[in-house]
Amino acid sequence: MKVQDMDKCAPSSDWNVLYWVLGTILMPVALPLALINIWQRFQAQKFRNQLPGKVVLITGASSGLGESLAHVFYRAGCRVILAARRTQELERVKKDLLALDVDPAYPPTVLSLDLAELNSIPEFVTRVLAVYNQVDILINNGGISVRSDVASTAVDVDLKVMVVNYFGSVALTKALLPSMVKRGSGHICFISSVQGKFAIPQRAAYSASKHALQAFADSLRAEVANKNINVSCVSPGYIRTQLSLNALTGSGSSYGKMDEATAKGMSPDKLAERILQCILRKEPDIIVSDVQAKIAYYLRHLCPSLYFWIMAKRALKLEKAEKKST
Ligand SMILES: NC(=O)c1ccc[n+]([C@@H]2O[C@H](COP(=O)([O-])OP(=O)(O)OC[C@H]3O[C@@H](n4cnc5c(N)ncnc54)[C@H](OP(=O)(O)O)[C@@H]3O)[C@@H](O)[C@H]2O)c1
Repeated sequence: MKVQDMDKCAPSSDWNVLYWVLGTILMPVALPLALINIWQRFQAQKFRNQLPGKVVLITGASSGLGESLAHVFYRAGCRVILAARRTQELERVKKDLLALDVDPAYPPTVLSLDLAELNSIPEFVTRVLAVYNQVDILINNGGISVRSDVASTAVDVDLKVMVVNYFGSVALTKALLPSMVKRGSGHICFISSVQGKFAIPQRAAYSASKHALQAFADSLRAEVANKNINVSCVSPGYIRTQLSLNALTGSGSSYGKMDEATAKGMSPDKLAERILQCILRKEPDIIVSDVQAKIAYYLRHLCPSLYFWIMAKRALKLEKAEKKST
């Protein structure tokens, strides 16, 4: 090899600068993060072996993400309790679970629950505790969405969304918490949304309910940290489920349409598996979304003016599209 060729192979000063940046600035951050990640994976494996027999209460288990969560926890050997309003759909989910070849297999329990009926929740928890006398993991997943701008949304609709998505989960958590505190263990998981981290036009009630859920989870996490009770808040982006079909309009009627973004959303089965990992790793707060939602999240917090400008443009676009379609 000639001396000139050897010069070409030698690292340039640009590369040296890059290595210096990586070594001096990034490594002290990246290395501990990598070690924490390895530790969490190790712990997750340890807890996965302890999953069989755990009692898992899943709200909104009659469709979508809740149904996928039922499959994931049942396959992991858990004793699942499925709750929602449509008990015939819960029975269908139960039948599907019983058809799986799983060992150990505990027959799923179906219980009717209307999160909007706050006064019925203590009685619901009595029925839950009568089954196994305990709940190890509570997944607050049941929820509804809305498709309407603030001006055209009846206050009753704002209230309904807030009651189902926020107060329903709060009431259920409060009713179950004493039994977890008494046993000195438990995990409470809230299914929020990226819209619990930043709000978009035509979703005010939904975003507000998920922001409230996030705040409740953050306060609760701190309060129960010394009681061996873990709290996770999961904020997914769009998921391929019936959420938009079941959403309410501003007048409270059914929206009944499959949104393009929802139809192209992530698989509920994959998300359910990620949520299982989140619970095993005791992760307090995770965002599971595409890059676009992550950018929106950082913009909202690091560059709010730009975020507000983009959202104003989006609101105008939605308004024009709506006028065109009517
Ligand atoms: N799909 C998305 O793009 C998306 C994105 C981020 C977060 N999420 C969240 O994921 C969770 C699950 O929604 P999904 O996407 O799976 O939609 P979904 O298919 O419409 O499921 C919603 C579930 O909530 C239950 N539910 C609704 N109202 C209820 C009530 N009053 N009482 C008890 N249960 C009730 C429904 O059961 P019944 O009708 O049988 O009661 C159903 O099982 C929700 O909290 C949602 O906000 C969804």
